[in-house]
Amino acid sequence: MPIYAINNTWILETRHTGYAVSVSGSGRLVHGYWGRRLPYPEDYPAGEEGYGWASFNGVGQVTREEYPAYAGANYTEPCLRATFADGVRDVVLRFDRAEQPEAGTLHVHLRDVYYPLRVTLHYAVYDAYDIIERWVTVQNEGAQPLTLERVWSAQWHLPPGDDYRLTHLTGRWFDEMHLRRETLRQGVKLLDSRRLATGHHHNPFFALDRGSADEDNGEVWFGALGWSGNWQMAAEVTDFASTRMNVGVNDWDFAWRLEHGQDFSTPPAYAGYTIRGFGAASRRLHDFIREVVQPHDQPVHPVLYNSWEATMFNVDVASQIALAERAAQIGVELFVMDDGWFHGRGDDTAGLGDWWPDARKFPNGLKPLIARVNELGMKFGLWIEPEMVNPNSDLYRAHPDWVIHFPTRARTELRNQLMLNMARPDVRDYLIGHFDRLLSENNIEFIKWDTNRNVTEPGWPDAAAFGVREPRELWVRHVEGVYRVWDTLRDRHPRVIWQSCSGGGGRVDLGILRRADQVWPSDNTEASARLAIQEGFSYAYPANTMEAWVTDMNPNNLSLDFRFHVSMCGALGIGGHLLHWEEKGLLPGAAKWIALYKTLRHLVQYGDLYRLRSPQTQPFSALLYLAKDKSEGVLFVFRTHLPEPAILPPLYLRGLVSAARYEVEGFGVRSGEAWMRAGVKVELGNFESRVIRLRRL
Ligand code: GLA
Repeated sequence: MPIYAINNTWILETRHTGYAVSVSGSGRLVHGYWGRRLPYPEDYPAGEEGYGWASFNGVGQVTREEYPAYAGANYTEPCLRATFADGVRDVVLRFDRAEQPEAGTLHVHLRDVYYPLRVTLHYAVYDAYDIIERWVTVQNEGAQPLTLERVWSAQWHLPPGDDYRLTHLTGRWFDEMHLRRETLRQGVKLLDSRRLATGHHHNPFFALDRGSADEDNGEVWFGALGWSGNWQMAAEVTDFASTRMNVGVNDWDFAWRLEHGQDFSTPPAYAGYTIRGFGAASRRLHDFIREVVQPHDQPVHPVLYNSWEATMFNVDVASQIALAERAAQIGVELFVMDDGWFHGRGDDTAGLGDWWPDARKFPNGLKPLIARVNELGMKFGLWIEPEMVNPNSDLYRAHPDWVIHFPTRARTELRNQLMLNMARPDVRDYLIGHFDRLLSENNIEFIKWDTNRNVTEPGWPDAAAFGVREPRELWVRHVEGVYRVWDTLRDRHPRVIWQSCSGGGGRVDLGILRRADQVWPSDNTEASARLAIQEGFSYAYPANTMEAWVTDMNPNNLSLDFRFHVSMCGALGIGGHLLHWEEKGLLPGAAKWIALYKTLRHLVQYGDLYRLRSPQTQPFSALLYLAKDKSEGVLFVFRTHLPEPAILPPLYLRGLVSAARYEVEGFGVRSGEAWMRAGVKVELGNFESRVIRLRRL
């Protein structure tokens, strides 16, 4: 049984892990255990209240409460802060009851001891993935309104012990997903976004280990948040060396008013545990994202062509058809027209908001181009940026009040654009109307959904007209609005493949991946930079979601082979100027790699990833993708710059069946054990790469 109760303890078990919470004598919900699954129910330690001593250490300070609210003598990070109508700002939660609405789920209801406030902790266990999901609903059952000031999704408690190490992803536009590792000491390490977006700068993913885990071994606790707006991850080590990871919507400038009977639900936080190192943590998340988070049976992603880097805004029927013909010739399956196709869009100063084809560029609409693309045997895809508007657009001229703004402040433009207020139903209806029509009238089978700026002046002056008395609810309502538009379009057009982009990797998270089939990880498509970005990405996100183009961004003159090999580690796309490729004689090479990719993409997109050597730390790096049944795999090996003479170490493969015999293409036949222990010796020069297949005999 995945969830059961003994005495006052609930035990949540997955295939390899156990998690326990208890009700203490005074009715507090106290964390007891999270880690490797234990043999017998009585093995799980009950969560117990600490005892306060001296006047400076209260019970709250030394008790590992499962979902602490700000109350009493507790000065560590609480998950919940609120102000009641009478001005009281102290929330005393005690256990009320628990129920299991269905197998694998648990709801624990807490109540304030005085005010009619209910807090429900929701748990769901995903047995096969060793992952637990938590989210929280807060309900005001009283007649008076109250204001929430912080409502996190979860506080994850680590087993008592010192010196946990935090692994996280950080970066900036064009340079996302750097892996960072640091030891946590007393105090709070805060990662967050205040951008009304997930952000390029930090990503809502964490991994914690005891300082010595590696790719293959060691305990790792890992997790992510399913939210595409302001978020927070606050890792705290208390004065008593209790380590916790808090995850949720950012409380920075946050407020939410709950009237009588209303409730507020947080986004889901997911977390898991493994004893098999960072590699296993990533594989658990990859499977979970592909099989549970993502919307439906995921397709093998088609090889796409995107015209952005080739033509920028200069799109028209003739130039797109010329590119499409070359794309079809090399084996591309999906042709995507990027920015520049809609009304008034000559450059980035105008047009956003006016979502119909530009009459000068497309006098007969998109149909002639789409028909030609389909005739060439390819699907057709289109770029959109729904949440944005240029002041120079018909939409803005008609509805200047539709953007997020403060009335007395200048509206800061970034890339000449402003953000629509997606909390407003009229804005959502406008967007749904236009895009629904576009998708209904045209055979569009792929949408790249972009968002190219972050919020400034986060105001909603006429919120009250929409029944919203607390304008700061915008921080959450806007994101819910984006989700609602996306979900509506997705439901109405189930054939479409959706890509999330935000100037590259600015919106990569488990919330957007519920609706996006894939994401665009970075605007930086230079292959050697991309190797590192892709590795960081792989810590949390699976390769089927990682669109990767081969482009002309090639300042170091890397070979076409190297560039293809890098992009073949994800969902392969092409973004170079194919007419120039034709002139340079690159089309046959491209066709060769695309054909090969089609024979191995099931391994890359849906296999198990083993990171053999890290490109973020090693100029000689390698990745292995292995079929789930371990019958075949593909190895990618890259060398960037290493001074000569260089002695390259063997690559120790991973995940093979020890006693089975495998043929590694070009290296002969050995047992799985031999390939894993003695390794494969691949010779490469600087800026060379190889793709090597292996199969079980
Ligand atoms: C963003 C995207 C690019 C491209 C441009 C178009 O920067 O990340 O791939 O779509 O917008 O304006």
